[in-house]
Amino acid sequence: MNSLFTPPIRLLLGRIAAGLLIVLTATTAVRAEENEKKGFFGFFKGEGGKTVAQTPAPPKYKQECASCHMAYPPGLLPAASWQHLMANLGKHYGTDASLAAEDATQIGNWLSANAGTYKRVSGTPSEDRISQSDWFLRKHRAGEVPANVWTRASVRSPANCSACHSGAEQGNFNERQVKIPG
Ligand code: HEC
Ligand code: HEC
Repeated sequence: MNSLFTPPIRLLLGRIAAGLLIVLTATTAVRAEENEKKGFFGFFKGEGGKTVAQTPAPPKYKQECASCHMAYPPGLLPAASWQHLMANLGKHYGTDASLAAEDATQIGNWLSANAGTYKRVSGTPSEDRISQSDWFLRKHRAGEVPANVWTRASVRSPANCSACHSGAEQGNFNERQVKIPG
């Protein structure tokens, strides 16, 4: 069989390929390190996988919005979703979460001002659910979180972020701190 390349050329091509591989591996490693430092939300506000509100939450936020579930970090939804959600508190996922108008305005303004603006959070997810965001579904697909996990008594719902992310209330979703409860 006739080879297209004479041995010295083949050797040279092999070296070039090996060199390219080293360069590629090095670039990927640097990129992985940058991502690690910035985290999933790092391109916006937080560092190390955090989504951090720029202004502190009004005390009413915890009082009124963390009695039935955790206080969701505002950066997880775009402003349009928060506004829609706040305008429909009377019909809130099968419950009535309505507030005095004054409190609703104050909380709504804070949520909107600190809403997610990064590209990942730009689409308004169905039902104003963080857990229906494209990025959420991608990050929690069956290959990452086995489907039967969601119905465990210790988890109950995809909306129950803190079941698996112990730093969720602080906006910390770093992959390294995820633990699926048994
Ligand atoms: C009376 C109880 C109650 C109160 C008060 C309440 N919620 Fe909820 N909320 C719920 C329930 C129930 C769900 C659906 C949870 C589920 O699917 O597991 C929900 C879901 C949500 C979700 C979607 C979670 C997801 O990604 O699936 C957001 C966002 C949310 N609430 C924000 C708020 C905000 C903001 C406030 C305060 C203005 C608030 N909630 C007050 C009961 C409440
Ligand atoms: C049943 C456990 C579980 C629940 C509940 C859960 N997550 Fe996760 N989440 C995971 C696991 C496991 C990963 C890691 C996937 C991987 O390895 O890429 C993850 C990854 C993430 C990431 C990506 C982190 C990164 O650095 O790439 C974000 C952001 C995130 N979750 C946010 C949320 C939010 C917000 C909620 C609630 C609305 C939530 N998660 C609910 C298990 C869970």
